[in-house]
Amino acid sequence: METISQTVGSLALNLQVQAGEAAASEAKKLQKIFDQVYTFFQKKNVSTAMKFARDTQSGFQEVAQLASTGKLVEALAKFHATRANCTDCHKAHRENVEGNWKMKY
Ligand code: HEC
Repeated sequence: METISQTVGSLALNLQVQAGEAAASEAKKLQKIFDQVYTFFQKKNVSTAMKFARDTQSGFQEVAQLASTGKLVEALAKFHATRANCTDCHKAHRENVEGNWKMKY
């Protein structure tokens, strides 16, 4: 999740400065990561978290497509919509135990 945070940060920046190719490659990287997150929660059979992971993954996939075709305004809007999944999944599936973040099912 730490890698996610960094990549999301630089993706937001690249979308703002309209660096389409860099943004597309970061969005693709995030898409792959959330595919893994999906598989992780699938093994544990947590359907709500699987949905958040899937929505996040397909969101970044669209961001990548839009960014790589130069549609940066749309890509940025899609990015913000996708970003909402982060917060929603954290609220539902993350808890703080003695200062450390853990999964919650
Ligand atoms: C499918 C659910 C899910 C989604 C979607 C999700 N996260 Fe997380 N995230 C978690 C869980 C569970 C933890 C706590 C366990 C861990 O750190 O691995 C966590 C922890 C984190 C952490 C570690 C530090 C902290 O504040 O807990 C960061 C940073 C983070 N997520 C960023 C993001 C960002 C940015 C996104 C969206 C692009 C995102 N996450 C989407 C489930 C999710």
